[in-house]
Amino acid sequence: MDRHPRHAPATLRNRDAILSILKTLVPDRGLLLEIASGTGEHAAHMTPRLPPALVWQPTDAAPNALADIDAHTAGCESIRPALLLDTRMPSWPVPRADIILCCNMIHIAPWEAALGLFAGAARILPTGGALVLYGPFRRQGLHTAPSNAEFDRSLRARDTSWGVRCLDSEVRPAAAAVGLEFAAEHSMPANNLIIVLRRT
Ligand SMILES: C[S@@+](CC[C@H](N)C(=O)[O-])C[C@H]1O[C@@H](n2cnc3c(N)ncnc32)[C@H](O)[C@@H]1O
Repeated sequence: MDRHPRHAPATLRNRDAILSILKTLVPDRGLLLEIASGTGEHAAHMTPRLPPALVWQPTDAAPNALADIDAHTAGCESIRPALLLDTRMPSWPVPRADIILCCNMIHIAPWEAALGLFAGAARILPTGGALVLYGPFRRQGLHTAPSNAEFDRSLRARDTSWGVRCLDSEVRPAAAAVGLEFAAEHSMPANNLIIVLRRT
């Protein structure tokens, strides 16, 4: 029988590096929409370390993720119950957000999930609002480390529609096409990046 709630051990390794950048991006108050929350462990760790008036809305496209998220975030007043949100939905159940965080999703989903993410973020962010992406990226079509190349091969072997996306030829142009301009990039441990796109 599966253990409940599920755990994602990688969140223990990356959460403080992500948090250190997120702290510099969040507003003092308002709504942070998390896309693809997975187990909810990022929300549970980060929310108590962010401004108390910032409300965190976790979401995921997998219906069975919602109970895990709610179990991990129980008792944290600034975290709302998890909502079902597939980025490819033409309309999202959250009409407005001040900032959006999406960790480790666009390479573990079809490219349409990334396109849906950019379109949805452009719909619900205010001008200047940030979409924050975390994960591995290719640069100029090339992997930045052998471990990322191997990871990409393993992803594509699991599902041919998955794969590490190219920041320069895929992510930035697709985001810009819907009004999300590249604003910043931050190097993260283990050859990952944080990418900040802002609504123009
Ligand atoms: C590798 S997990 C990442 C979870 C968490 N963000 C983390 O970093 O540990 C990928 C998550 O993306 C979700 N996902 C996949 N396609 C999605 C989509 N189109 N919209 C929203 N979430 C999606 C999956 O259900 C899964 O929970």
